[in-house]
Amino acid sequence: MFTFAVVGFGARGRKYSALLKARGEKLVAVCDCDPKVYEVARRDYALSDDALFSDYDSFFSRGKIADLLIVATTDREHLAPALRALELGYDVILEKPIAVSLEDCEKIYEKAKVTGRRVIICHVLRYSPFFKKIKQLVDSGRYGEIETVNHVENVGYWHFAHSFVRGNWRNEKESTFMLLAKCCHDLDILAWLFDKPCEYVSSMGKLSYFKKENPENPKKGYCFKCDKAGCPYRASDFYVKYPLWVKLPVVPQENRDAFIRRWLEDESNPYARCVYECDNDVVDHQVVNMQFAGGATAHLTMTAFTKEFYRRTHLFMSQGEIYGNMLENKIYATRFGEDTEVFDLGDQIGGGHGGGDEGLINDVCRLMEEGGKSVTDIDVSMVSHKIAFAAEKSRKANGEAVRL
Ligand SMILES: NC(=O)c1ccc[n+]([C@@H]2O[C@H](COP(=O)([O-])OP(=O)(O)OC[C@H]3O[C@@H](n4cnc5c(N)ncnc54)[C@H](O)[C@@H]3O)[C@@H](O)[C@H]2O)c1
Repeated sequence: MFTFAVVGFGARGRKYSALLKARGEKLVAVCDCDPKVYEVARRDYALSDDALFSDYDSFFSRGKIADLLIVATTDREHLAPALRALELGYDVILEKPIAVSLEDCEKIYEKAKVTGRRVIICHVLRYSPFFKKIKQLVDSGRYGEIETVNHVENVGYWHFAHSFVRGNWRNEKESTFMLLAKCCHDLDILAWLFDKPCEYVSSMGKLSYFKKENPENPKKGYCFKCDKAGCPYRASDFYVKYPLWVKLPVVPQENRDAFIRRWLEDESNPYARCVYECDNDVVDHQVVNMQFAGGATAHLTMTAFTKEFYRRTHLFMSQGEIYGNMLENKIYATRFGEDTEVFDLGDQIGGGHGGGDEGLINDVCRLMEEGGKSVTDIDVSMVSHKIAFAAEKSRKANGEAVRL
């Protein structure tokens, strides 16, 4: 058994805590500036008030009080706690993105090297059975070398509207740019599959649809003032009728629907806004082209405009092809001249990110018990973060290629 503490006890911090608790590990402290989350820490982890901290100073002034620290604060709040944790000698599980500028990513990376501590980045997809299988097939050599890849991140229109138009990742100044927020996972997977340096990147993308100028904007400002039947972004459907996978405030069990309807008529609630009248500025579609050492290429599409929320990957290789999508959780692998083999991973899905969340935590426990290396140590995550920053630079220059 080991002990852990969490800085940022929101959705991710609580998710990892629950997975660690299920494995018998012990949460000993929580640092979060929002006192609303303390209730969960008290109720589910029996933490007393002296184990609950509202700011970094009060938490870190206690010194190193756990074997491991999880940093799962919001995107712009990763640098300060990560540096302070490393200075105190913590091994750190750090949510992606490492930080929101390359300079800050490098500061954390350098601090990890100087202090000799481990920083594991939560690139959970590497632990999903789906991508583990694809990686295993690629590395088997049976299909030859990767020549080119087509990878699509289908964000899902409802997920996009919730998180990237109305919600937490809508505005670059408040969180970060879309590619880093959403697709650093995809870039990480591509860099992992190729396992060679990316040399050139170019990218284009825009915010085209979710904006005031859209002719579909009914110009009512708030959803409850319009409530147009047939609008796919109608908040009363989104949050009451079809409770999709979206983050809501803590909702009471009794009178749930009435509570949410009142919440949707509160003009200070960002989720009450019309999707064409938000302060969002992150792109709703983007493409990235990459060229790796030796000339192999990859293409990534990120789009809001899909019914479902899933990733699909198609690898075109010198002696075969591998295709899979996470929705059906099947992988089709063909060696040219032979029958296609189908790997159905259906019953291996579990928990968040196609089983990736659980896989990450299992790996963390293994490392705490046995030592060794993680497949998502900061060293490897720096690679995909560098691609993301270069791609964004290219997007802002209308697709001009950037050499890495
Ligand atoms: N690995 C993944 O697949 C994945 C998925 C979703 C989110 N994330 C990342 O995880 C991080 C957390 O996301 P989330 O969805 O849990 O967000 P969240 O808003 O639910 O949780 C963040 C928590 O950090 C706390 N916080 C913010 N600033 C703080 C400060 N200065 N001091 C103390 N506490 C502070 C907030 O009060 C909140 O409770 C983000 O960086 C996000 O991008 C990763």
